[in-house]
Amino acid sequence: MFVSEALKVNSKNHLEIGGCDCVELVKEYGTPLYVMDEGLIRKNCQVYKNAMDKYYGGNGLVLYASKAFSSMAIYRLVEQEGLGIDVVSGGELYTALKAGFPMDKVYFHGNNKTLEEIELAIENNVRRIVVDNKEELHNINYVASKKGKVANISFRIKPGIDAHTHDFVQTGQIDSKFGVALENGEAFEIVKMASQLSNIKVVGVHCHIGSQIFDLAPFELAARVMLNFIAEVKEKLGIEVEELNLGGGFGIKYIPEHDPIEYDHYIESVSKVVKAVCEDKKIKLPFVVMEPGRSIVASAGITLYSVGAVKDIKNVRKYISVDGGMADNPRYALYQSPYDAVLANKPEAQKFDKVTIAGKCCESGDLLMKDVLMPEIKVGDILAVLATGAYNYSMSSNYNRIPRPPVVLVKDGKSRVIVKREDYSDIIRNDVIPEDL
Ligand code: LLP
Repeated sequence: MFVSEALKVNSKNHLEIGGCDCVELVKEYGTPLYVMDEGLIRKNCQVYKNAMDKYYGGNGLVLYASKAFSSMAIYRLVEQEGLGIDVVSGGELYTALKAGFPMDKVYFHGNNKTLEEIELAIENNVRRIVVDNKEELHNINYVASKKGKVANISFRIKPGIDAHTHDFVQTGQIDSKFGVALENGEAFEIVKMASQLSNIKVVGVHCHIGSQIFDLAPFELAARVMLNFIAEVKEKLGIEVEELNLGGGFGIKYIPEHDPIEYDHYIESVSKVVKAVCEDKKIKLPFVVMEPGRSIVASAGITLYSVGAVKDIKNVRKYISVDGGMADNPRYALYQSPYDAVLANKPEAQKFDKVTIAGKCCESGDLLMKDVLMPEIKVGDILAVLATGAYNYSMSSNYNRIPRPPVVLVKDGKSRVIVKREDYSDIIRNDVIPEDL
Protein backbone atom coordinates (compact mmCIF):
# COMPACT_ATOMS: atom_id res chain seq x y z
CA MET A 1 0.00 0.00 0.00
CA PHE A 2 2.83 2.44 0.81
CA VAL A 3 5.95 3.09 -1.23
CA SER A 4 8.04 1.94 1.72
CA GLU A 5 7.87 -1.31 3.65
CA ALA A 6 8.76 0.63 6.81
CA LEU A 7 5.18 1.86 7.07
CA LYS A 8 1.88 0.42 8.16
CA VAL A 9 -1.48 1.44 9.56
CA ASN A 10 -2.07 0.68 13.24
CA SER A 11 -5.24 -0.16 15.15
CA LYS A 12 -5.97 3.54 15.73
CA ASN A 13 -5.89 4.03 11.97
CA HIS A 14 -2.72 6.09 12.26
CA LEU A 15 0.48 5.77 10.28
CA GLU A 16 3.06 3.65 12.06
CA ILE A 17 6.82 3.41 11.52
CA GLY A 18 9.18 1.18 13.51
CA GLY A 19 6.30 0.29 15.82
CA CYS A 20 5.71 3.98 16.66
CA ASP A 21 2.47 5.84 16.05
CA CYS A 22 3.28 8.95 13.98
CA VAL A 23 0.60 11.02 15.71
CA GLU A 24 2.22 10.20 19.07
CA LEU A 25 5.68 11.00 17.70
CA VAL A 26 4.41 14.43 16.72
CA LYS A 27 2.97 14.98 20.21
CA GLU A 28 6.35 14.12 21.70
CA TYR A 29 8.75 15.83 19.30
CA GLY A 30 6.69 18.40 17.35
CA THR A 31 6.90 19.14 13.62
CA PRO A 32 8.61 19.21 11.23
CA LEU A 33 10.16 15.91 12.20
CA TYR A 34 12.40 13.48 10.37
CA VAL A 35 11.75 9.88 11.43
CA MET A 36 13.97 6.96 10.41
CA ASP A 37 13.26 3.28 10.77
CA GLU A 38 16.29 1.52 12.24
CA GLY A 39 15.12 -1.95 11.26
CA LEU A 40 14.84 -1.10 7.57
CA ILE A 41 18.25 0.60 7.46
CA ARG A 42 19.81 -2.50 9.04
CA LYS A 43 17.92 -4.76 6.66
CA ASN A 44 19.08 -2.78 3.62
CA CYS A 45 22.69 -3.00 4.83
CA GLN A 46 22.31 -6.78 5.12
CA VAL A 47 20.82 -7.15 1.64
CA TYR A 48 23.96 -5.59 0.16
CA LYS A 49 26.35 -7.37 2.49
CA ASN A 50 24.81 -10.79 1.91
CA ALA A 51 24.78 -10.31 -1.85
CA MET A 52 28.41 -9.26 -1.79
CA ASP A 53 29.30 -12.38 0.21
CA LYS A 54 27.18 -14.59 -2.02
CA TYR A 55 28.36 -13.40 -5.44
CA TYR A 56 31.95 -12.36 -4.70
CA GLY A 57 32.70 -14.90 -1.97
CA GLY A 58 33.31 -12.08 0.50
CA ASN A 59 36.07 -10.63 -1.72
CA GLY A 60 34.63 -7.16 -1.44
CA LEU A 61 33.26 -4.42 0.77
CA VAL A 62 30.00 -2.49 0.83
CA LEU A 63 30.39 1.16 1.72
CA TYR A 64 27.48 3.29 2.85
CA ALA A 65 27.71 6.55 0.85
CA SER A 66 27.14 8.79 3.81
CA LYS A 67 26.37 11.97 1.86
CA ALA A 68 22.85 10.53 1.71
CA PHE A 69 22.49 10.97 5.46
CA SER A 70 25.40 11.72 7.74
CA SER A 71 25.26 11.79 11.54
CA MET A 72 27.22 10.12 14.30
CA ALA A 73 24.47 7.58 15.00
CA ILE A 74 24.21 6.38 11.41
CA TYR A 75 27.96 5.74 11.33
CA ARG A 76 27.61 3.64 14.49
CA LEU A 77 24.70 1.74 12.99
CA VAL A 78 26.35 0.87 9.66
CA GLU A 79 29.53 -0.10 11.48
CA GLN A 80 27.50 -2.63 13.49
CA GLU A 81 26.17 -4.03 10.21
CA GLY A 82 29.73 -4.57 8.95
CA LEU A 83 29.75 -1.90 6.25
CA GLY A 84 32.45 0.61 5.47
CA ILE A 85 31.66 4.22 4.56
CA ASP A 86 32.31 6.71 1.81
CA VAL A 87 32.90 10.28 2.98
CA VAL A 88 33.22 13.31 0.72
CA SER A 89 34.41 16.08 2.98
CA GLY A 90 36.39 16.85 6.10
CA GLY A 91 33.05 17.35 7.84
CA GLU A 92 31.80 13.85 7.08
CA LEU A 93 35.20 12.40 7.97
CA TYR A 94 35.23 14.32 11.26
CA THR A 95 31.71 13.09 12.10
CA ALA A 96 32.81 9.49 11.47
CA LEU A 97 35.95 9.98 13.56
CA LYS A 98 33.91 11.36 16.46
CA ALA A 99 31.55 8.39 16.20
CA GLY A 100 34.59 6.11 16.55
CA PHE A 101 34.16 4.64 13.07
CA PRO A 102 37.10 2.36 12.12
CA MET A 103 39.22 4.37 9.69
CA ASP A 104 40.40 1.26 7.89
CA LYS A 105 36.92 1.06 6.41
CA VAL A 106 36.72 4.66 5.22
CA TYR A 107 37.01 5.78 1.58
CA PHE A 108 37.59 9.48 1.09
CA HIS A 109 36.05 11.04 -2.04
CA GLY A 110 35.70 14.57 -3.35
CA ASN A 111 36.69 16.50 -6.46
CA ASN A 112 38.62 19.26 -4.69
CA LYS A 113 39.99 18.05 -1.39
CA THR A 114 41.79 20.76 0.53
CA LEU A 115 45.24 20.22 2.02
CA GLU A 116 43.64 20.22 5.47
CA GLU A 117 41.22 17.49 4.41
CA ILE A 118 44.05 15.43 2.90
CA GLU A 119 46.03 15.83 6.14
CA LEU A 120 43.07 14.72 8.23
CA ALA A 121 42.62 11.65 6.01
CA ILE A 122 46.28 10.66 6.01
CA GLU A 123 46.85 11.35 9.71
CA ASN A 124 43.96 9.04 10.51
CA ASN A 125 45.02 6.34 8.05
CA VAL A 126 41.81 6.12 6.05
CA ARG A 127 41.71 2.97 3.98
CA ARG A 128 41.56 4.71 0.63
CA ILE A 129 41.73 8.20 -0.84
CA VAL A 130 39.87 8.28 -4.13
CA VAL A 131 41.90 10.70 -6.24
CA ASP A 132 40.03 13.01 -8.58
CA ASN A 133 42.78 14.90 -10.44
CA LYS A 134 46.52 15.51 -10.92
CA GLU A 135 46.85 18.42 -8.52
CA GLU A 136 45.27 16.36 -5.79
CA LEU A 137 47.53 13.41 -6.54
CA HIS A 138 50.58 15.59 -5.98
CA ASN A 139 49.12 17.09 -2.82
CA ILE A 140 48.49 13.62 -1.41
CA ASN A 141 52.02 12.53 -2.27
CA TYR A 142 53.37 15.68 -0.59
CA VAL A 143 51.34 15.28 2.61
CA ALA A 144 52.11 11.54 2.81
CA SER A 145 55.85 12.14 2.38
CA LYS A 146 55.80 14.87 5.06
CA LYS A 147 54.21 12.40 7.44
CA GLY A 148 56.46 9.50 6.40
CA LYS A 149 53.52 7.47 5.09
CA VAL A 150 52.39 5.83 1.89
CA ALA A 151 48.84 6.73 0.82
CA ASN A 152 46.75 3.92 -0.61
CA ILE A 153 44.76 5.45 -3.41
CA SER A 154 42.16 4.73 -6.00
CA PHE A 155 41.25 6.87 -9.02
CA ARG A 156 37.88 8.30 -9.89
CA ILE A 157 37.41 7.37 -13.55
CA LYS A 158 34.73 8.63 -15.93
CA PRO A 159 33.68 5.54 -17.84
CA GLY A 160 31.65 7.72 -20.22
CA ILE A 161 28.34 6.03 -19.51
CA ASP A 162 25.09 7.90 -19.75
CA ALA A 163 22.73 6.34 -17.23
CA HIS A 164 19.10 7.41 -17.45
CA THR A 165 18.54 9.77 -14.63
CA HIS A 166 18.06 13.44 -13.94
CA ASP A 167 20.70 15.70 -15.50
CA PHE A 168 21.62 17.29 -12.21
CA VAL A 169 22.54 14.01 -10.60
CA GLN A 170 24.47 12.56 -13.49
CA THR A 171 28.11 12.19 -12.60
CA GLY A 172 29.61 9.57 -14.94
CA GLN A 173 29.97 11.31 -18.29
CA ILE A 174 33.06 12.95 -19.79
CA ASP A 175 31.46 16.38 -19.34
CA SER A 176 31.52 16.14 -15.57
CA LYS A 177 33.55 17.85 -12.89
CA PHE A 178 34.31 14.46 -11.34
CA GLY A 179 37.35 12.34 -12.11
CA VAL A 180 39.51 11.63 -15.15
CA ALA A 181 38.24 10.40 -18.50
CA LEU A 182 39.12 7.20 -20.28
CA GLU A 183 38.37 8.43 -23.81
CA ASN A 184 41.11 11.04 -23.98
CA GLY A 185 43.84 9.05 -22.22
CA GLU A 186 43.67 11.21 -19.08
CA ALA A 187 42.94 8.20 -16.86
CA PHE A 188 45.87 6.21 -18.24
CA GLU A 189 48.24 9.15 -17.80
CA ILE A 190 47.33 9.76 -14.17
CA VAL A 191 47.88 6.09 -13.25
CA LYS A 192 51.28 6.22 -14.93
CA MET A 193 52.13 9.43 -13.10
CA ALA A 194 51.07 7.94 -9.75
CA SER A 195 53.22 4.86 -10.30
CA GLN A 196 56.25 7.14 -10.26
CA LEU A 197 55.44 8.82 -6.95
CA SER A 198 57.19 7.39 -3.91
CA ASN A 199 54.51 7.99 -1.28
CA ILE A 200 51.59 6.73 -3.31
CA LYS A 201 50.39 3.18 -3.82
CA VAL A 202 47.83 2.67 -6.59
CA VAL A 203 45.35 0.14 -5.26
CA GLY A 204 42.15 0.68 -7.18
CA VAL A 205 39.95 2.39 -9.70
CA HIS A 206 36.50 3.78 -9.09
CA CYS A 207 33.49 4.92 -11.06
CA HIS A 208 30.03 6.20 -10.22
CA ILE A 209 27.65 6.48 -13.13
CA GLY A 210 24.77 8.43 -11.63
CA SER A 211 22.01 8.24 -9.08
CA GLN A 212 18.42 6.94 -8.85
CA ILE A 213 19.08 4.54 -11.77
CA PHE A 214 16.56 1.79 -12.56
CA ASP A 215 18.37 0.03 -15.42
CA LEU A 216 20.79 -2.83 -15.05
CA ALA A 217 22.61 -2.36 -18.36
CA PRO A 218 24.61 0.78 -17.49
CA PHE A 219 25.99 -0.90 -14.36
CA GLU A 220 27.06 -3.98 -16.35
CA LEU A 221 28.62 -1.81 -19.01
CA ALA A 222 30.48 0.26 -16.42
CA ALA A 223 31.98 -2.89 -14.88
CA ARG A 224 33.09 -4.06 -18.33
CA VAL A 225 34.65 -0.72 -19.26
CA MET A 226 36.49 -0.47 -15.95
CA LEU A 227 37.88 -4.01 -16.17
CA ASN A 228 39.09 -3.36 -19.70
CA PHE A 229 40.94 -0.38 -18.29
CA ILE A 230 42.46 -2.53 -15.53
CA ALA A 231 43.62 -4.97 -18.23
CA GLU A 232 45.13 -2.14 -20.27
CA VAL A 233 47.01 -0.79 -17.26
CA LYS A 234 48.39 -4.25 -16.53
CA GLU A 235 49.47 -4.81 -20.10
CA LYS A 236 51.03 -1.42 -20.76
CA LEU A 237 52.33 -0.41 -17.34
CA GLY A 238 52.71 -3.75 -15.60
CA ILE A 239 50.59 -2.45 -12.71
CA GLU A 240 48.04 -4.81 -11.16
CA VAL A 241 45.06 -2.82 -9.99
CA GLU A 242 43.66 -4.86 -7.11
CA GLU A 243 40.41 -3.08 -6.40
CA LEU A 244 37.36 -2.14 -8.46
CA ASN A 245 34.90 0.27 -6.89
CA LEU A 246 31.64 0.48 -8.84
CA GLY A 247 30.06 3.34 -6.89
CA GLY A 248 26.39 3.68 -5.98
CA GLY A 249 23.30 4.92 -7.78
CA PHE A 250 20.66 2.22 -7.30
CA GLY A 251 17.16 3.57 -7.66
CA ILE A 252 14.47 3.51 -4.98
CA LYS A 253 10.70 3.71 -5.01
CA TYR A 254 9.62 7.29 -4.32
CA ILE A 255 6.22 6.93 -5.97
CA PRO A 256 4.13 3.85 -6.81
CA GLU A 257 5.14 4.01 -10.50
CA HIS A 258 8.84 3.54 -9.65
CA ASP A 259 10.05 0.00 -10.08
CA PRO A 260 13.63 -0.39 -8.84
CA ILE A 261 15.69 -3.49 -9.54
CA GLU A 262 16.35 -5.79 -6.61
CA TYR A 263 19.79 -4.98 -5.28
CA ASP A 264 20.64 -8.66 -4.96
CA HIS A 265 19.81 -9.14 -8.62
CA TYR A 266 21.94 -6.19 -9.64
CA ILE A 267 24.95 -7.54 -7.73
CA GLU A 268 24.49 -11.01 -9.16
CA SER A 269 24.33 -9.70 -12.75
CA VAL A 270 27.32 -7.43 -12.38
CA SER A 271 29.34 -10.18 -10.70
CA LYS A 272 28.80 -12.37 -13.75
CA VAL A 273 30.18 -9.65 -15.99
CA VAL A 274 33.13 -9.13 -13.65
CA LYS A 275 34.02 -12.83 -13.67
CA ALA A 276 33.58 -13.20 -17.44
CA VAL A 277 35.72 -10.18 -18.32
CA CYS A 278 38.46 -11.19 -15.87
CA GLU A 279 38.62 -14.62 -17.43
CA ASP A 280 38.59 -13.25 -20.92
CA LYS A 281 41.29 -10.65 -20.23
CA LYS A 282 43.29 -12.97 -17.98
CA ILE A 283 43.35 -10.61 -15.04
CA LYS A 284 42.94 -11.41 -11.35
CA LEU A 285 39.46 -11.00 -9.88
CA PRO A 286 39.59 -7.62 -8.16
CA PHE A 287 38.39 -6.83 -4.65
CA VAL A 288 34.98 -5.34 -5.40
CA VAL A 289 33.62 -2.28 -3.62
CA MET A 290 30.23 -0.64 -3.98
CA GLU A 291 28.78 2.51 -2.49
CA PRO A 292 25.01 2.60 -2.09
CA GLY A 293 23.73 5.70 -0.32
CA ARG A 294 20.12 6.47 -1.21
CA SER A 295 19.05 2.81 -1.30
CA ILE A 296 20.24 2.23 2.27
CA VAL A 297 18.37 5.11 3.92
CA ALA A 298 15.79 6.75 1.63
CA SER A 299 12.86 4.38 2.14
CA ALA A 300 13.56 4.19 5.87
CA GLY A 301 12.77 7.88 6.35
CA ILE A 302 9.64 10.01 6.46
CA THR A 303 9.10 13.66 7.28
CA LEU A 304 6.11 14.72 9.38
CA TYR A 305 4.66 18.21 8.97
CA SER A 306 1.70 20.11 10.42
CA VAL A 307 -0.71 21.64 7.96
CA GLY A 308 -1.08 25.34 8.77
CA ALA A 309 -3.11 26.75 5.90
CA VAL A 310 -5.27 25.65 2.99
CA LYS A 311 -5.54 28.15 0.14
CA ASP A 312 -7.99 27.16 -2.56
CA ILE A 313 -7.59 29.55 -5.50
CA LYS A 314 -10.68 28.65 -7.52
CA ASN A 315 -9.92 27.35 -11.01
CA VAL A 316 -6.20 27.86 -10.43
CA ARG A 317 -4.63 25.70 -7.73
CA LYS A 318 -5.15 24.52 -4.20
CA TYR A 319 -2.16 25.12 -1.95
CA ILE A 320 -1.62 23.23 1.29
CA SER A 321 1.00 24.97 3.42
CA VAL A 322 3.12 22.95 5.83
CA ASP A 323 5.55 24.06 8.51
CA GLY A 324 8.67 22.89 6.62
CA GLY A 325 9.63 22.91 2.95
CA MET A 326 12.72 23.46 0.85
CA ALA A 327 14.84 24.14 3.94
CA ASP A 328 14.39 20.53 5.12
CA ASN A 329 13.79 18.99 1.68
CA PRO A 330 15.20 20.93 -1.27
CA ARG A 331 14.83 18.03 -3.70
CA TYR A 332 11.63 19.15 -5.40
CA ALA A 333 12.90 22.71 -5.78
CA LEU A 334 16.23 21.46 -7.16
CA TYR A 335 15.28 18.47 -9.28
CA GLN A 336 11.47 18.36 -9.33
CA SER A 337 11.86 14.99 -7.60
CA PRO A 338 8.52 13.29 -7.06
CA TYR A 339 7.34 12.18 -3.63
CA ASP A 340 4.36 10.39 -2.21
CA ALA A 341 2.57 11.55 0.93
CA VAL A 342 -0.26 10.48 3.23
CA LEU A 343 -2.00 11.98 6.21
CA ALA A 344 -0.44 10.40 9.29
CA ASN A 345 -3.71 10.83 11.21
CA LYS A 346 -5.77 9.09 8.47
CA PRO A 347 -3.39 7.26 6.16
CA GLU A 348 -6.05 5.23 4.42
CA ALA A 349 -8.26 8.16 3.40
CA GLN A 350 -9.14 8.12 -0.28
CA LYS A 351 -7.05 10.44 -2.46
CA PHE A 352 -9.27 12.48 -4.78
CA ASP A 353 -8.35 16.16 -4.41
CA LYS A 354 -5.63 17.71 -6.56
CA VAL A 355 -3.37 19.83 -4.36
CA THR A 356 0.07 21.39 -4.23
CA ILE A 357 2.08 21.08 -1.04
CA ALA A 358 3.92 24.31 -0.29
CA GLY A 359 6.65 25.03 2.22
CA LYS A 360 6.99 28.08 4.44
CA CYS A 361 10.02 29.73 2.82
CA CYS A 362 9.71 33.11 1.14
CA GLU A 363 10.18 31.67 -2.31
CA SER A 364 7.49 30.66 -4.77
CA GLY A 365 9.50 27.59 -5.85
CA ASP A 366 9.36 26.28 -2.29
CA LEU A 367 7.13 23.30 -3.01
CA LEU A 368 7.32 19.69 -1.84
CA MET A 369 4.80 18.22 -4.30
CA LYS A 370 2.89 19.76 -7.19
CA ASP A 371 -0.60 18.83 -8.43
CA VAL A 372 -0.85 15.54 -6.58
CA LEU A 373 -3.94 13.70 -5.44
CA MET A 374 -4.55 13.79 -1.70
CA PRO A 375 -7.52 13.24 0.63
CA GLU A 376 -9.32 16.28 1.95
CA ILE A 377 -6.70 18.09 4.03
CA LYS A 378 -7.60 20.35 6.93
CA VAL A 379 -5.56 22.69 9.07
CA GLY A 380 -4.06 20.65 11.90
CA ASP A 381 -3.68 17.46 9.88
CA ILE A 382 -0.27 15.79 9.94
CA LEU A 383 1.25 15.26 6.54
CA ALA A 384 3.79 12.47 6.16
CA VAL A 385 6.04 12.81 3.12
CA LEU A 386 7.49 9.38 2.39
CA ALA A 387 10.93 8.11 1.46
CA THR A 388 12.74 11.21 2.68
CA GLY A 389 15.60 9.37 4.40
CA ALA A 390 18.22 10.26 1.78
CA TYR A 391 19.44 13.69 0.71
CA ASN A 392 16.86 15.52 2.83
CA TYR A 393 18.47 16.17 6.21
CA SER A 394 21.90 16.05 4.53
CA MET A 395 20.91 18.79 2.06
CA SER A 396 18.89 20.86 4.51
CA SER A 397 19.64 24.51 5.16
CA ASN A 398 18.73 27.36 7.46
CA TYR A 399 17.27 29.44 4.63
CA ASN A 400 15.02 32.13 6.10
CA ARG A 401 16.73 31.31 9.42
CA ILE A 402 14.50 28.30 9.89
CA PRO A 403 15.95 25.88 12.48
CA ARG A 404 16.54 22.33 11.21
CA PRO A 405 14.12 19.64 12.43
CA PRO A 406 15.37 16.82 14.64
CA VAL A 407 15.95 13.26 13.45
CA VAL A 408 14.37 10.49 15.48
CA LEU A 409 15.35 6.85 15.07
CA VAL A 410 12.56 4.35 15.70
CA LYS A 411 12.62 0.63 16.40
CA ASP A 412 10.24 -1.82 18.09
CA GLY A 413 7.99 0.97 19.34
CA LYS A 414 10.89 2.98 20.81
CA SER A 415 12.02 6.37 19.54
CA ARG A 416 15.34 8.11 20.23
CA VAL A 417 16.65 11.46 19.04
CA ILE A 418 19.80 11.06 16.91
CA VAL A 419 19.97 14.70 15.80
CA LYS A 420 18.53 17.37 18.09
CA ARG A 421 16.12 20.05 16.90
CA GLU A 422 17.91 23.32 16.26
CA ASP A 423 16.62 26.34 18.13
CA TYR A 424 17.01 30.08 17.61
CA SER A 425 20.26 30.16 19.56
CA ASP A 426 21.73 27.72 17.01
CA ILE A 427 20.63 30.12 14.31
CA ILE A 428 22.77 32.97 15.68
CA ARG A 429 25.59 30.75 16.96
CA ASN A 430 28.16 32.06 14.51
CA ASP A 431 26.88 35.62 14.19
CA VAL A 432 29.18 38.38 15.37
CA ILE A 433 28.41 42.08 15.79
CA PRO A 434 31.83 43.78 15.54
CA GLU A 435 32.57 46.21 18.36
CA ASP A 436 32.89 49.17 16.01
CA LEU A 437 29.49 48.63 14.46
N1 LLP B 1 29.48 7.16 -4.67
C1 LLP B 1 29.75 8.34 -5.24
C2 LLP B 1 31.10 8.62 -5.70
C3 LLP B 1 28.74 9.29 -5.40
O1 LLP B 1 29.04 10.45 -5.99
C4 LLP B 1 27.45 9.02 -4.93
C5 LLP B 1 26.39 10.00 -5.05
C6 LLP B 1 27.21 7.77 -4.32
C7 LLP B 1 28.26 6.85 -4.22
C8 LLP B 1 25.87 7.37 -3.77
O2 LLP B 1 24.89 7.36 -4.73
P1 LLP B 1 23.40 6.82 -4.36
O3 LLP B 1 23.52 5.35 -4.10
O4 LLP B 1 22.99 7.57 -3.15
O5 LLP B 1 22.61 7.18 -5.54
N2 LLP B 1 21.64 15.01 -4.08
C9 LLP B 1 21.19 14.14 -5.13
C10 LLP B 1 22.02 12.90 -5.24
C11 LLP B 1 23.48 13.19 -5.53
C12 LLP B 1 24.29 11.94 -5.59
C13 LLP B 1 25.72 12.26 -5.63
N3 LLP B 1 26.58 11.14 -5.57
C14 LLP B 1 19.72 13.77 -4.86
O6 LLP B 1 19.16 14.25 -3.89
O7 LLP B 1 19.13 13.04 -5.65
